[in-house]
Amino acid sequence: MNILLLGSGGREHALAWKMLQSKDCSQLFVAPGNAGTAAIANNLDLNPNDFTAVKQAALHNAIDMVVVGPEDPLVNGIYDFFKNDAQLKHIPVIGPSQKGAQLEGSKEFAKEFLIRHQIPTAAYQSFTQENVQAGYAFLETLKAPYVLKADGLAAGKGVLILNDLDEAKLELKNMLVDAKFGSASQKVVIEEFLDGIELSCFVLTDGKSYKILPTAKDYKRIGEGDAGLNTGGMGAVSPVPFADEVLMQKIEERIVKPTIDGFVKDGIDYKGFVFIGLINVDNEPFVIEYNVRMGDPETEVVVPRISSDLVALFQAVAHQTLDQATLTIDSRTATTVMLVSGGYPEAYEKGMPISGLDQVSDSLVFHAGTALKDRTVVSNGGRVLAVTSFGTDFNQALKTSYQNIDKLHFDKMYYRKDIGFDL
Ligand code: AMP
Ligand code: GLY
Repeated sequence: MNILLLGSGGREHALAWKMLQSKDCSQLFVAPGNAGTAAIANNLDLNPNDFTAVKQAALHNAIDMVVVGPEDPLVNGIYDFFKNDAQLKHIPVIGPSQKGAQLEGSKEFAKEFLIRHQIPTAAYQSFTQENVQAGYAFLETLKAPYVLKADGLAAGKGVLILNDLDEAKLELKNMLVDAKFGSASQKVVIEEFLDGIELSCFVLTDGKSYKILPTAKDYKRIGEGDAGLNTGGMGAVSPVPFADEVLMQKIEERIVKPTIDGFVKDGIDYKGFVFIGLINVDNEPFVIEYNVRMGDPETEVVVPRISSDLVALFQAVAHQTLDQATLTIDSRTATTVMLVSGGYPEAYEKGMPISGLDQVSDSLVFHAGTALKDRTVVSNGGRVLAVTSFGTDFNQALKTSYQNIDKLHFDKMYYRKDIGFDL
């Protein structure tokens, strides 16, 4: 099979690395990809949101399957675009329909889905510019901290957590009236704050049945001890040590099953990954968000732990025979540490030559923001490399990652030395 993978981050490098291990993958194309995917597959210089360009590439390269990494092509309807095009409809797209992608594209849609299917989640109400006064009144009924969520996609920045009521009211006004997050904050979900520890559960579904993939926990803040600004993710650990059998049973019964049943009941065509963001409050799991794709950097620890053939699983998703497929998981722990550009998540420089890649042993280095310049690998984004290792526990795995990081260098490289500190 010829496979086209859309995206360009560490998640895509990890998916590409895994899919290439399948005997069913004859040629792999990554659009647009990075220096890491260029070394193992064929990069195509196109924007995954330019569906006309994706169509041309799919036809030109006799593509048999499309795997979508990031959310925006899904929210923009790439699944439906393929399904409704006479020349493309035979090509399965691994990812949800546009309606399913609304679970990530609209916080209000996700909350309505959760409530409708009686899945545990924080109490909420949503507001627009027209009823901003009612929003202030709702805030007054809640206890601090206050959670404000822009309804639409805001590049991971649309959630504000505020300790002060006046500040929360001001931010609500900024979002609704002054378009703080542009059109994404035309509507705002205000919800009850849940006090607990976060974890993520990943599910692969064919729309009827599902397989639960390894759990993971990511570290989103730039600074050690979870301080400072939010990032795309600075590191991750899989499995999550506190996600024991009892908690996983609750997650499956109360959250995963009703989610997949919800797709069936609501007529949502969903053939892809579901990333369920959870908060564990006194051993009771609550959903804080759905994403309709894999996480990054969670993919860099979840995918290496999948022993089964991922392409075969994708084929089972496409043919809706996932109930007959087997999923085998490596029992070892995997950890990843992100190496980022100095200054990230604020302004940073690109184009820094990266050295030491050939010195790494016993770790997998997945490229996130990298490019090739005069045959040298250079940084090309905020998050640059993800260094993944295995171990019998997360401390041992992290030790290997940190030993290999000592061999890697680019100007102003930064990383967190405390991944897993809270476990
Ligand atoms: P999201 O963009 O939905 O992942 O939210 C960003 C972060 O906000 C999450 O990773 C949580 O740390 C936090 N968060 C979101 N919703 C809540 C909530 N209801 N209670 C506490 N923290 C929350
Ligand atoms: N690491 C969080 C995400 O991919 O959304």
